[in-house]
Amino acid sequence: MVSRVATVAFHGIEGVPVDVQVMVAPGNVGMHIVGLPDKAVAESRERVQAALHASGLSLPGKKVTINLAPADLPKEGSHYDLAIALGLMAALGAIPADALQDFAVVGELNLDGTIAAVAGALPAAIAANAMGKGLICPAASGAEAAWAGDGIDILAPRSLIALANHFRGTQVLSRPEPAVRQMPANLPDLADIKGQESAKRALEVAAAGGHNLLMIGPPGSGKSMLASRLPSILPPLSAAELLDVSMIQSIAGQLSGGKLSDRRPFRAPHHSATMAALVGGGLRARPGEVSLAHNGVLFLDELPEFTPQALDALRQPLETGECVIARANHRVSYPANIQLVAAMNPCRCGMAGEPGHTCARGIRCAADYQGRISGPLMDRIDIRIDVPAVTAMDLIKPMAAESSADVARRVAFARDMQRERFLALGEARLRTNAQCSTALIEKIAEPDPNGLQLLRDAAEKMKFSARGYHRILKVARTLADLDGQATVGKLHLAEAISYRIAGDRLMAAA
Ligand SMILES: Nc1ncnc2c1ncn2[C@@H]1O[C@H](COP(=O)(O)OP(=O)(O)OP(=O)(O)O)[C@@H](O)[C@H]1O
Ligand SMILES: [Mg+2]
Repeated sequence: MVSRVATVAFHGIEGVPVDVQVMVAPGNVGMHIVGLPDKAVAESRERVQAALHASGLSLPGKKVTINLAPADLPKEGSHYDLAIALGLMAALGAIPADALQDFAVVGELNLDGTIAAVAGALPAAIAANAMGKGLICPAASGAEAAWAGDGIDILAPRSLIALANHFRGTQVLSRPEPAVRQMPANLPDLADIKGQESAKRALEVAAAGGHNLLMIGPPGSGKSMLASRLPSILPPLSAAELLDVSMIQSIAGQLSGGKLSDRRPFRAPHHSATMAALVGGGLRARPGEVSLAHNGVLFLDELPEFTPQALDALRQPLETGECVIARANHRVSYPANIQLVAAMNPCRCGMAGEPGHTCARGIRCAADYQGRISGPLMDRIDIRIDVPAVTAMDLIKPMAAESSADVARRVAFARDMQRERFLALGEARLRTNAQCSTALIEKIAEPDPNGLQLLRDAAEKMKFSARGYHRILKVARTLADLDGQATVGKLHLAEAISYRIAGDRLMAAA
């Protein structure tokens, strides 16, 4: 007899149905797993045998064949253990044969028969629901799976014995409750930053329209400090965004305790990060930092210190909003709609461009350092600003600085304007001006006659790329939104152009 248990394989952030078929038949004693298992799945044989033994069930002296169908889909990870063990228990009559038909199953087994947490319980629960089934998952992943919906039947046992008892009716497993992660309430506040008014303005504009931002300045001018204040002015995630973000965190195994939070992701990988760590991949396909920052911010401090390969790998996700990892036998894509924020010194010694400073290595100092960032990556950055050293006057007798709460209100207002406009245009999936297609931005950011003249003159003089032109329009649209204005005016365009050429000027000086 063949017993069948439903489970899932993860493809990107989606769960694809997989059928675990277990057959116990006369033949050479042994247990074989077929259906493109990777090493972790193949080793499942040892864990399953030990866990069943620890639960008081020994395998019969027969041939056990386990097929993971469809056979041509690669199976990665340790979450197949539980489905295989339950299939065997059903085949041996340890649990009722029909008990499993309404469930999909994910979970890893310990040798003592307890069930260990696995990554991806949330997408597994959503996939199970789509199959019209409930989910059996580890106790530690139950809170996470419960977020998939109230209507989904979820069993989250601690051990194989607890689950068997539940099916026999001697012990009842209650449905786990979805849990919310309490985030620290007091984020670093913009009010701590003295002076740097224009940098704060640029940070506000970037937050309002989801624009990529690069800050260039000498050491200690407050670039890292500014970037770390960004989370305090970004609006919380909407329900749909929250689900996407949590699915990625779930697949990456980063939902601690299965608790979700509506805080926008802010990822700040160290500059020693490899390409695989940034964009995903490695031995097992996994979301990288750029996907973990989906719907939020990827902050790259000391930008030129990242390897050129890692930086250039960001070009595709920055343009398309998704990260594709190609493998020999399949390709996986993870969402990666991010806002890139980066900081750097203008040169190796850090002081190029400061009044009265001459680099010991001459002009090569800045040229070599800035040359590490490729032109195409630079072209994707909408707002580039100089962050000069803060003046002594500002440090000693600063003007009263605005708090993050005030700035966050203006950002939320501008984001609301954008959302309403996109809804009215039937583009509900768009949320910020930065995400607009070129055709759409030309339609919604049409400048008034004065603005058009300025744009024409500037384009002629400065020779923007086509991408540069559209990105200027996007930033100008955000500036008009912050002002609550329907049309993009000359002042908005002038400010947007100034953000674009600040970086060009520095690069040219190098
Ligand atoms: N505008 C400012 N207001 C108040 N404190 C500041 C300001 N700028 C810098 N500081 C102080 O200087 C320290 C260093 O700032 P920060 O780390 O942000 O500099 P940075 O520009 O990132 O420098 P580096 O290029 O070396 O990374 C901060 O921890 C803070 O104490
Ligand atoms: Mg810094």
